[in-house]
Amino acid sequence: MDRLKNKVALISGGARGQGAAEAKLFINEGAKVVIGDVLDGDARKLSDDLNRAAGAHVTVAIHLDVTRAADWRAAVDACEREFGGLDILVNNAGILNTKGIAETSEEEWDAIINVNQKGVWLGMKIAAPAMKKRGSGSIINISSIYGLIGSGGSAAYHASKGAVRLLTKTAAVEFAPNNIRVNSVHPGVIKTPMVDIFADAELDAIAQLAPMKRAARPEEVGWVVLFLATDEASFVTGAEYLVDGGYTAV
Ligand SMILES: NC(=O)c1ccc[n+]([C@@H]2O[C@H](COP(=O)([O-])OP(=O)(O)OC[C@H]3O[C@@H](n4cnc5c(N)ncnc54)[C@H](O)[C@@H]3O)[C@@H](O)[C@H]2O)c1
Repeated sequence: MDRLKNKVALISGGARGQGAAEAKLFINEGAKVVIGDVLDGDARKLSDDLNRAAGAHVTVAIHLDVTRAADWRAAVDACEREFGGLDILVNNAGILNTKGIAETSEEEWDAIINVNQKGVWLGMKIAAPAMKKRGSGSIINISSIYGLIGSGGSAAYHASKGAVRLLTKTAAVEFAPNNIRVNSVHPGVIKTPMVDIFADAELDAIAQLAPMKRAARPEEVGWVVLFLATDEASFVTGAEYLVDGGYTAV
């Protein structure tokens, strides 16, 4: 129950899907959570529900567009103002476009790279000073199996998620002297609104490519993210954690 006692977390894209699952798991383990998202209504409803369930002020929602430095500064300020500091950042916000290299427009390319790649860099840049003040921190960057292998489509998404993998490793080296750990998580097929763009049969066919032959629930990624957030992962940094039902093992 207390694996994150006295810790404050900021979760980008926390209004739904995996980010929302992580917010719940973190709060159940004693953390205070700032939920940042562009979906203001969803984020506020989730934080209201979680505060009501906890019977305490354990979370707050804030408008955070991860491509905007000013929004990140406001989100980090909210962590410090509402809960006294920042210990954990989950760079979870992401968008997907399945187009290949030939069909991708310049605008589509820029949109994906801005959210999935630049957003992760900006988050780390602006959160790290707050963690340095606390003397430690844990940053978890959500990449994808598509950050490790190719698929023939999703060109900008692959490029952005591959970048997150190496940005994570160089951040781990840069921030190790500050006792800030930085790791990446690489989900396979996870049942969230992101994959609603696929018809059920299409999604099932993709999930069947993994030895476990199913899509995962958001919590199944959240449990790994939770571990990396806790002090149980005190010697884990610069690592990449696959949560893919064996997708990339074959
Ligand atoms: N679902 C999958 O199969 C899958 C697989 C591998 C990796 N991922 C990654 O997992 C992460 C979470 O995705 P999910 O599956 O929960 O999908 P989701 O679409 O349910 O959640 C993504 C969240 O990010 C938010 N977001 C989008 N653009 C934003 C921006 N500019 N600023 C702030 N928030 C923004 C969305 O509003 C949404 O709440 C993403 O980084 C995604 O790329 C997902």
